[in-house]
Amino acid sequence: MNQDELKKAAAQAALDHLPDDAVIGVGTGSTVNFFIDALAARKHRIAGAVSSSEASTARLKAAGIQVFDLNSVNDLPVYVDGADEITAGLAMIKGGGGALTREKIVAAVARKFVCIADEKKQVALLGKFPLPLEVIPMARSYVAREVVRLGGQPILREGFTTDNGNIILDIHNLQILDPVEMETRLSALTGVVMCGLFARRPADVLILATTSGIRTST
Ligand code: 5RP
Repeated sequence: MNQDELKKAAAQAALDHLPDDAVIGVGTGSTVNFFIDALAARKHRIAGAVSSSEASTARLKAAGIQVFDLNSVNDLPVYVDGADEITAGLAMIKGGGGALTREKIVAAVARKFVCIADEKKQVALLGKFPLPLEVIPMARSYVAREVVRLGGQPILREGFTTDNGNIILDIHNLQILDPVEMETRLSALTGVVMCGLFARRPADVLILATTSGIRTST
């Protein structure tokens, strides 16, 4: 199986984790695109979706799935999203697609975070994938200097603006030995809107597609 086939298998397996008649949180990215396509076939069994990006909103609507504003939803039983890296403890790096802020907001509201990923995403230590930070544009240089003090190499994601009108700094070569502590430190920097480490609120379930089948862990 190639990586796309693995992503599709993980996305398909996530359907078993959806309660009927509920509003479902939907993430962003190529794995989630497969999930949205699978969800379209059973859209009559859900009440609709809350989306984590303009891209996912467009795909959900094109599939005939109603998209709700998060503020109008009291209860979100499950949020399905991908990851760029995930550990055995279910801490993640997210934001490769630049949607980390809305993803983290939806994840905060959701009672259960189901991460769908192919086996390439599983790592022992986070940080080989550059860690995205969403930053207010005028704070770019200040945040970059602070990141260098923490040992990372910040690179501006050229030509990219987030759905919230901000920039992304991708941090290369950062040693992330304690993901919770690093998330706390980076999130506290003035001008950082959101840090792509999802360690303080990790996933609750990982559906990992491997060449030898689906592995689910909690
Ligand atoms: C987008 C994300 C995605 O979940 C992450 O980048 C994984 O994407 P893909 O499924 O395309 O590999 O965090 O902001």
